[in-house]
Amino acid sequence: MVKTLYLKNNVLKILDQRLLPSKIIYIVCRNHKDVYYCIKDMAVRGAPAIGVAAGYGMYLASLEKEFKDLKDLKDYLGKAGKYLVSARPTAINLFWAIERINKVVQLFNDSLVQELIAVIKTEADKIYQEDILINKKIGENGAKLLRKNSTLLTHCNAGALATAGWGTALGVIRTAHKKGKIKLVYVDETRPYLQGARLTSWELLQEKIPCVLITDNMAGYFMSTGVIDGVIVGADRIAANGDTANKIGTYSIAVLCKYNNIPFYVAAPSSTFDLTISDGKKIKIEYRNSDEVTFINKKRIAPVGVKALHPAFDVTPHNLITAIITEKGVIKNPSKERIKKILGV
Ligand code: MRU
Repeated sequence: MVKTLYLKNNVLKILDQRLLPSKIIYIVCRNHKDVYYCIKDMAVRGAPAIGVAAGYGMYLASLEKEFKDLKDLKDYLGKAGKYLVSARPTAINLFWAIERINKVVQLFNDSLVQELIAVIKTEADKIYQEDILINKKIGENGAKLLRKNSTLLTHCNAGALATAGWGTALGVIRTAHKKGKIKLVYVDETRPYLQGARLTSWELLQEKIPCVLITDNMAGYFMSTGVIDGVIVGADRIAANGDTANKIGTYSIAVLCKYNNIPFYVAAPSSTFDLTISDGKKIKIEYRNSDEVTFINKKRIAPVGVKALHPAFDVTPHNLITAIITEKGVIKNPSKERIKKILGV
């Protein structure tokens, strides 16, 4: 699998996911503003991947000028962090990663600027490496829930491309496939950004995991014919009661699952939980440019002058979720109490 992003010689290379699957091109980020634009303009996307990129964005910020003392560096990093988190509002992992770097920065009180820079790099590397290990644990925990020969449906891309590697929802599918549990994966194309058509089907083909691409409005039909055993998706932010924000269209799929008696799973690392908000109504939903609806691949598909809307995420209420699969364990019938118990908080 190609790398979503990597740091080499103090430069962050980010795979430009807007060009996939036709071209594999890396954007060279030399400073935190470059990283900001990669996140904002969706060259890198997916909650965990955005967090990992932002962590490295902070490291790049620490290399951007000669700092006269520790305070000078800390002040600069404070501004860089605020700038980076303003790139996209919904995925909590972006805020989480910046907070993690901010914490090591605040705790560092030795005098040497160079030492703090090294500490920031170590923390950013840790965020990257831990993400892959966490995803593998999610994969193991999730695969146990599936029967042999399962046919699953997934929405958007919660794969290696949305993380530092392996993936969350696709991580479960990868692990389950290695255990011989996957017969077929239905991939929603995921209008309007087509993460399913462009990214998920590409990842699955590379791994030789049997898949079939469908348009979003076909999901209900296939569920009604009885061919789908379960749905598994990722998450951008999970509130304290388990309400989950994920790619627009996820809520509709969860409702269809309830009606058709199909298990609906969310796979996410513990860093995707936002325990400071009681429920999903408090999650800020990103509205993106309506051109992403009226154009496909830079080609206009709707008449000039028509208004369009593009909420990029929706919220699935916790009572539609069969289980949330985390690296710490599986939260069945998610509720505030069960979430706290499994996360150990
Ligand atoms: O707008 P995107 O492509 O960043 O949205 C991505 C999703 O909604 C994913 O499902 C979510 O971030 C989980 S990725 C492991």
